[in-house]
Amino acid sequence: MSILYRSDAARAAGWASYFARHAPDLDFRIWPHAGDLKEVEYLIAWQAPPEFLTELPNLKVLFSSGAGIDHVDLSAVPAHIPLVRMVEPGIINGMVEYVSLAVLALHRDFFDYVAQKAAGVWNPLEVPPASARTIGVMGMGSLGCAVLERLAAFGFRLRGWNRSPRAMDGVEIFAGADQLQPFLEGCDVLVCLLPLTPATHGILDREVFSVLPKGAALINVGRGPHLVDADLLAALDSGHLSHAVLDVTDPEPLPSGHPFWAHPRVFVTPHVASMTQPETAAPILLENIRRHQRGEALQGRIDPARGY
Ligand code: GLV
Repeated sequence: MSILYRSDAARAAGWASYFARHAPDLDFRIWPHAGDLKEVEYLIAWQAPPEFLTELPNLKVLFSSGAGIDHVDLSAVPAHIPLVRMVEPGIINGMVEYVSLAVLALHRDFFDYVAQKAAGVWNPLEVPPASARTIGVMGMGSLGCAVLERLAAFGFRLRGWNRSPRAMDGVEIFAGADQLQPFLEGCDVLVCLLPLTPATHGILDREVFSVLPKGAALINVGRGPHLVDADLLAALDSGHLSHAVLDVTDPEPLPSGHPFWAHPRVFVTPHVASMTQPETAAPILLENIRRHQRGEALQGRIDPARGY
């Protein structure tokens, strides 16, 4: 029984050592040392090009090594092969840290103080309480809910927008396309944690920005293609939006010369908000393999029709 790991090389050793210790019955292979591809039954991958998938005639499950599955062409995966995304505490904690950091930096004007410091300016800005700010999270999956839960501890006002309604204590819930506008109208900081699907592609556009209150800020930790770059630049340059914190761009890496690099109110990080951690992800993935072997339902299975 073989598993092939075809993802981030730096973390491959962590995965291999976990499987060697806890599942010696499984033959764990690391790309490009894949051996006979006909023996591969489980694939852990970030990219899974269609032509590569056709070389795995005995594939039983495709596991994404990341939280998203949008980088896999779902139409190239035979219908009988379950697709599983990565839901693990390491990714969740990383995302909670990053979004908390970005929200607090915006709330406490750190980006303005970075500019003031560079200019040698001593200018204390007002310090409103967290309860005076509303943070809105688009996408209430495991990441969005964990982020909201942690932000609650700071005392922010919270709202969440989701495709289908989802209850959460202390969070004002909005659901579906009809409630997007009322959701946005109250967000001082908008956090995008949506999956990337045809329905959410380009969702962060001029219409959305125009409904946000003046001075609102955007944090995009979803995917680059959620955002219409030109619409963000226009909203920042007109003064309607104050700041954007972008961990994802389209394309990645962000090309040199792209206006985001030099923009004083756009903060870019190179898709590092959160990463799968082998120590916490490998046990969850192994448990899923065992479930599959016992004929039980897999956790984190995605619905190809929905795309997440
Ligand atoms: C990273 O973006 C992931 O999907 O895990």
